[in-house]
Amino acid sequence: MLVIHVVGARPNFMKVAPIMAEMALQPDVFQQVLVHTGQHYDVNMSDVFFRDLGMRAPDEFLGVGSGSHAQQTARVMMGFEPVVEKHRPDWVLVVGDVNSTMACALVAAKLGVRIAHVEAGLRSGDWSMPEEINRVVTDRISDLLFTPSADADANLAHDGIDPARVHRVGNVMIDSLVRLLPSARRQPVMHGLGLSRRGFALVTLHRPANVDDPEGLREILQALAGIAQRLPVVFAVHPRTRKVMEAHGLGRVTGGVRMIEPLGYLDFLCLTDAASVVITDSGGIQEETSYLGIPCVTVRPNTERPVTVELGTNRLVGATAGEILSASVQCLQGAPSTPGSIPLWDGKASSRIAWVMGNQSPR
Ligand code: UD1
Repeated sequence: MLVIHVVGARPNFMKVAPIMAEMALQPDVFQQVLVHTGQHYDVNMSDVFFRDLGMRAPDEFLGVGSGSHAQQTARVMMGFEPVVEKHRPDWVLVVGDVNSTMACALVAAKLGVRIAHVEAGLRSGDWSMPEEINRVVTDRISDLLFTPSADADANLAHDGIDPARVHRVGNVMIDSLVRLLPSARRQPVMHGLGLSRRGFALVTLHRPANVDDPEGLREILQALAGIAQRLPVVFAVHPRTRKVMEAHGLGRVTGGVRMIEPLGYLDFLCLTDAASVVITDSGGIQEETSYLGIPCVTVRPNTERPVTVELGTNRLVGATAGEILSASVQCLQGAPSTPGSIPLWDGKASSRIAWVMGNQSPR
């Protein structure tokens, strides 16, 4: 069975790595081709993840880079079509909800190649998010849908997806976390930044809704400056966010906040695991903090990962300085959180995926 795996953007790498590792254990069943679309291309948004996760170099690199949604999606589709025609795979496996995910799924569907979607069924209900469009389209055209949680199964049933296509396997991102947490804890990044365990807040922000409008971003940065009066704040700044900050001179607002470049997988996991509180608008970090038992303040009005609020450590707040500051201070003053116990988030999701795929009928 020939499987093409697609990666493109930062949150894809830690999802595909454990699936490829699992399939590599069965060379008599699976042949694998790794395609990197190049949606993310900076060393610290892409290459460092290959090193940290022990992934082999891509077999095909499409080099699409940045652009508007239409440009980026179109470039991925135009680059991916000849790759599928060349390899003639049995399956195209896509993960998550980035533009590369949807673009490659569309190409496969039109060429009549079966699609497996990992992290299927998540819904924020928020159509202003490009990811929501990517999720709905990808799920609708997928042949196999691997979900992380029961809410995702319910969303797919609601959308009329045949339940026989849906397999609840757990969370592949947690597979990478479980495998690499011991190495992450040995990273020297805390020492390098002069941080102590449970002695700092960790921040990431990159959603267009939070960072593209300079006035909205200013408001959030004011909250961070307020938190920095209480304890050190480390802000790993996404390139999208950095551009807006530089264009509007917002660096001045962040008095006391330690701004650093985006980190690799191991360094960021090391900091997440040691933080007092994490403030973010990322999807995956809501999951990782829930698993680790680190309080997470998510600056969004909704989440496609409600299980992290119900069973994990996540709380949603509006993008105002007051809400972010007060939720963060409550986390700092509250009782320590306990690691979330979310069914099937156990480090074995990718082995379940390999089992299900290995038992599919030939095309
Ligand atoms: C993308 C995903 C988002 C995911 C995020 C993780 C979509 C629609 N969005 O958002 O779901 O949460 O990745 O990071 O697919 N840039 C660089 N270097 C890079 C990559 C990007 O400088 O290596 C800059 C460019 O200015 C680019 C901007 O960041 O225009 C946005 O990149 P893009 O891939 O369009 O979206 P993200 O905001 O990264």
